[in-house]
Amino acid sequence: MVLNNKFNITDSTELARLEEQISKKKAVKLFENKYLDSYTAGSFAMLSAIHKYLFNEIYEFARQVRTVNISKGNFRFAPVMYLQSAIEHVEAMPQSTFDEIVEKYVEMNIVHPFREGNGRSTRIWLNLILKKELSKVIDWSSVDKEDYLQAMERSPIKDIEIKHVLKQALTDKVNDREVYIKGIDYSYFYEGYMIFKAEEL
Ligand SMILES: Nc1ncnc2c1ncn2[C@@H]1O[C@H](COP(=O)(O)OP(=O)(O)OP(=O)(O)O)[C@@H](O)[C@H]1O
Ligand SMILES: [Mg+2]
Repeated sequence: MVLNNKFNITDSTELARLEEQISKKKAVKLFENKYLDSYTAGSFAMLSAIHKYLFNEIYEFARQVRTVNISKGNFRFAPVMYLQSAIEHVEAMPQSTFDEIVEKYVEMNIVHPFREGNGRSTRIWLNLILKKELSKVIDWSSVDKEDYLQAMERSPIKDIEIKHVLKQALTDKVNDREVYIKGIDYSYFYEGYMIFKAEEL
C-alpha cells in the first residue's frame, strides 16, 4: 500500500526515495531559517509545524492529526478517538530533566499523531526541547539505528533502554546543523504500518 501523495507516485520505493530527499532538504532549510522561533519547545504546535515543514510538498496530510488507527510491529499507537486528549496530556508533561524529556518523547511516540513521518518530526522536536532545557542535543550520527529502533519498540513498556541509547549520544554541539539533519537520515525504507478499524479495539 502506497500513501496518497502530491506527486501521484504509486511505487513505494520511489516514494520513499523522494520523501527522504525532500525531507532532508527541508530539514537543512529548517535549521537555517527562523521558521520555528515563534514556537514553544515541547508544544504540539511546534511538532506539527516541523511536520508541515518537512512533508508539505509531499503529503496533503502534512501537519494534520491522523484519522485512522495504526500499528507497527505488535504495537498499536493511540486510538484516533483519544488522539486529542493524548496530545494535550503529553504537552503538559514536565521537561526539566533528561529523564523527563525522554519520557515525554516516548509518550509522543505512543501518540504517533501523524499518518507518516512521526519519527523524523519527533526526533527534531526532541532535540529542540533538549536544546532549550539542557543546552544539549542528541548527535544522531552516534546512535546505532538498530539499537535505537529496538529501544523504541520496547519503550512503551520500559524506557530504560532508550534513555541509555540517547544519553550516550548527548552533545553540547547545539548549533551544529549536521546533528539535527542526521536524525532525518534515520529513515527506514519501508512502510511498516498496519491500519486497523476502531471496532477491533
Ligand atoms: N513497534 C514500535 N513500537 C513503538 N514505536 C515504534 C515501533 N516501531 C517504530 N517505532 C517508532 O516510530 C518511528 C517511525 O514512525 P514513522 O514511520 O511515522 O516515522 P518516519 O519519520 O516515517 O520514520 P523513521 O523514524 O524511520 O525515520 C520510529 O523512528 C520509532 O521511533
Ligand atoms: Mg515511516
